[in-house]
Amino acid sequence: MASLEVDLTKIESGQTITVKWRGKPVFIKRRTEEDIELANSVNVKELRDPQTDSERTQNPEWLVLVGVCTHLGCVPLPNAGDYHGWFCPCHGSHYDGSGRVRKGPAPLNLEVPEYKFLSEELLLVG
Ligand code: FES
Repeated sequence: MASLEVDLTKIESGQTITVKWRGKPVFIKRRTEEDIELANSVNVKELRDPQTDSERTQNPEWLVLVGVCTHLGCVPLPNAGDYHGWFCPCHGSHYDGSGRVRKGPAPLNLEVPEYKFLSEELLLVG
């Protein structure tokens, strides 16, 4: 299946873009220092799907997520919800700034797809 190259130079700090990969939306967020600190301040033991932020990122500045709610597959909205992350309007799941589920019916965190950095400016998804 095809991989997708994404030019990171046009993404501003704090901005989230959505690209299409294998027919699914993929969110790429360039996180600010505050975003990263907040994602690391969470008590992982209290999470429904316990994962540290560093388990979910290769470089903390960049968060890469499959944009499909783990409840029933809607596309969550960025920069929304109670945890500075994503909100799924279908049945009210809230995801944090690391894409971890925090509230609502979703059972799991947003999936992290396979990806790698080809350079500082180029990301390969898939
Ligand atoms: Fe997202 Fe149900 S599909 S909360």
